[in-house]
Amino acid sequence: MLSIALSALLSFSLLIQQVHTSPCLAFDSDFNLLAFGFGGKDFNLGPQSTWNGNGAVTDITTTGRPPFDGANTTCYLAQFFSAIYVINGDASNPDNVGIYDATAKSWTTQQISTSNTGGSSNFDLTSFDAILDHDTNVFYALSHGALYNLDFSALKTTATSSSIPWLAVSNPPFTTDGYDPVMALAQNHIHFLNVPGAQPGTADIFVIHFSFFQPTPQAYPINGSSNNFPETHGQVASFFQPSGQGVQQEFAFIPDDASATYVINVESNTTAQLAGPSDKSASTFYASVNALVQLTSDEKLFFLPYTQGDASTNAAAQWTSITLTGLPAAGSSSSSSSASSSATGSSHTSSASSKSGSGSSSSTGSASTPSNTSAGFTLVASSVMSLIGGLLVVAATYTL
Ligand SMILES: *[C@@H]1O[C@H](CO)[C@@H](O)[C@H](O)[C@H]1NC(C)=O
Ligand SMILES: *[C@@H]1O[C@H](CO)[C@@H](O)[C@H](O)[C@H]1NC(C)=O
Ligand SMILES: *[C@@H]1O[C@H](CO)[C@@H](O)[C@H](O)[C@H]1NC(C)=O
Repeated sequence: MLSIALSALLSFSLLIQQVHTSPCLAFDSDFNLLAFGFGGKDFNLGPQSTWNGNGAVTDITTTGRPPFDGANTTCYLAQFFSAIYVINGDASNPDNVGIYDATAKSWTTQQISTSNTGGSSNFDLTSFDAILDHDTNVFYALSHGALYNLDFSALKTTATSSSIPWLAVSNPPFTTDGYDPVMALAQNHIHFLNVPGAQPGTADIFVIHFSFFQPTPQAYPINGSSNNFPETHGQVASFFQPSGQGVQQEFAFIPDDASATYVINVESNTTAQLAGPSDKSASTFYASVNALVQLTSDEKLFFLPYTQGDASTNAAAQWTSITLTGLPAAGSSSSSSSASSSATGSSHTSSASSKSGSGSSSSTGSASTPSNTSAGFTLVASSVMSLIGGLLVVAATYTL
């Protein structure tokens, strides 16, 4: 019986259509962790104090949400408004930006456009990395080597009826040939890491409020070491300050090999080298005031506690799994079925991402977000799903 069930599963898997899903995380302004697009739903995972399994997961799925079926979905917190902006959350409508009002718990959709960007090349919705500036509420993005912005300053928590354009700002002074941008935000400056030819431990800087590229890179040596962070591709996330206490002053940089977590402080112009994530899978990262959160390509969640200004505590901090009951298993589809996670879990593939960012990046400001694409699976028909569910139950029963 078990083998019958398993072979039935195998053949049904031919009917399973693989679609890309891109869940993303964001904090609201009270630093509750919000998880969007998990099993076709959205959840509030609560504050950091509850991530050890004591907390309740609240389903916040509601109408008007993006489907979270796009590649490279990124989420940004606008801290002043407790609004989350979701870019590339709708594969069919890449010019839609979902806006979640975390206070009202409601969604609106803002139309953006790329038709008259100005400058030498048009903005490419399938290839860009972005940050959301903390104070101005303006996005900045590098697309095919040119810098653009998208002005959300009038929006706050709700979309407007008119479309907002990506507009050309300027071209960086550094070479962008072959550059896969790593863009981090702190102190209203965009920090470009891994610029071709960059010296280890340096960033090229764009000063947002003066719309100005600094002529020379800034060095961020590692405290207590003669080493520097590597100029390799990775993910970034900016640590927020508590509400009312200003802009981000530090951002985390995690190289793609996850060998370390570097925290760059743009006030002291120094870097702290901390433990790298224990899970080395392709991941995106999000920061609050006191934590850096990792979302792996197979939808596992980990966090590193972080205390701004306390180097010895941070040096001893370790990555810990976020364990919460009530969050759908990795890769589960939006059809609700107990079978879905079993049916899909093992065949998950992921592609690495490319954006940067997050945390702040994804969040406000901060960084750009990575684009992490995790592939999930959706069943073509829910009846197939139920059938598989039934078979799994039979199989499980038999095994027991
Ligand atoms: C997602 O990111 C990858 C890697 O940068 C890129 O090749 C792809 O075009 C992006 N897809 C979309 C739909 O933006
Ligand atoms: C840190 O770097 C920024 C950007 O280059 C610079 O404006 C600032 O003066 C530096 N701060 C210190 C303490 O060196
Ligand atoms: C490095 O050390 C200096 C001096 O103790 C401190 O001000 C700075 O915050 C440290 N940098 C980081 C990133 O921890």
